[in-house]
Amino acid sequence: MIEDLERAWRERSSKRAFRPEPLTRDQLLGVFGPAQHAPSWCNVQPWRVCVTSPPATAKLADALQTAARSGLPHAELPFPLDYPSPYKEQRQACGVALYQAMGITKEDKAKRYDAWLRNYALFDAPHLAVVACDRRLGPYVYVDVGVWLGYVLTAAAALGIATCPMASVAAYPEPLRAALPIADADIILFGIVLGHADDAAAANACRTTRQPVEANITFIDTFVDETARPETL
Ligand SMILES: Cc1cc2nc3c(=O)[nH]c(=O)nc-3n(C[C@H](O)[C@H](O)[C@H](O)COP(=O)(O)O)c2cc1C
Repeated sequence: MIEDLERAWRERSSKRAFRPEPLTRDQLLGVFGPAQHAPSWCNVQPWRVCVTSPPATAKLADALQTAARSGLPHAELPFPLDYPSPYKEQRQACGVALYQAMGITKEDKAKRYDAWLRNYALFDAPHLAVVACDRRLGPYVYVDVGVWLGYVLTAAAALGIATCPMASVAAYPEPLRAALPIADADIILFGIVLGHADDAAAANACRTTRQPVEANITFIDTFVDETARPETL
């Protein structure tokens, strides 16, 4: 079973070009149904999600592109302002991988802008899930929603359904709130586009790497009891 999970995780990647055919309701339920098993603190299950299908998705994409062209990003949950090392380097490597896959050079500002705007075209995906949670619960429940996102991405990968999680769409909340029944008490966190990947698209050749496990996980084998230390060594 761990082999199946690991294969799904290894082989999945974010897709940034989709074919137009929508998923069936059963396919969408096949992703979101199993993800309901995600654990959350006190089992509050705080994810609140609207999932669009055609033609609503394309209408929303039009409104998002208009907003992105004409205004500065202003996400309800603020994005990081700065990425100190090593996050800066990892972020840059992610950008390089995508632009290389798409054949866009660092100097080509026009093509980079167009590639950025593709986020707001929702990469032509037939479905957008807009993910929010009740702001009265405070920031801790974002952890729960992140766990749920992992379940959604895993379920989709296991089913061969393409996804891309999308912070970018949360940067322009007005078109989302105008089109979707998002409660005033809810804070918009991110989107997820879903559908069938366009395997011929250059953007979908993008692959990212991961740090070795030692970069993130510290195993503690000895216990140093500070209270038992002599005053002077
Ligand atoms: C919460 C979250 C938000 C993201 N937002 C975007 C986004 O707005 N646009 C985008 O192209 N990719 C977005 N991504 C995808 C990441 O860039 C991608 O997961 C990362 O580079 C690792 O690559 P992989 O998903 O192909 O393994 C997001 C991922 C997460 C988890």
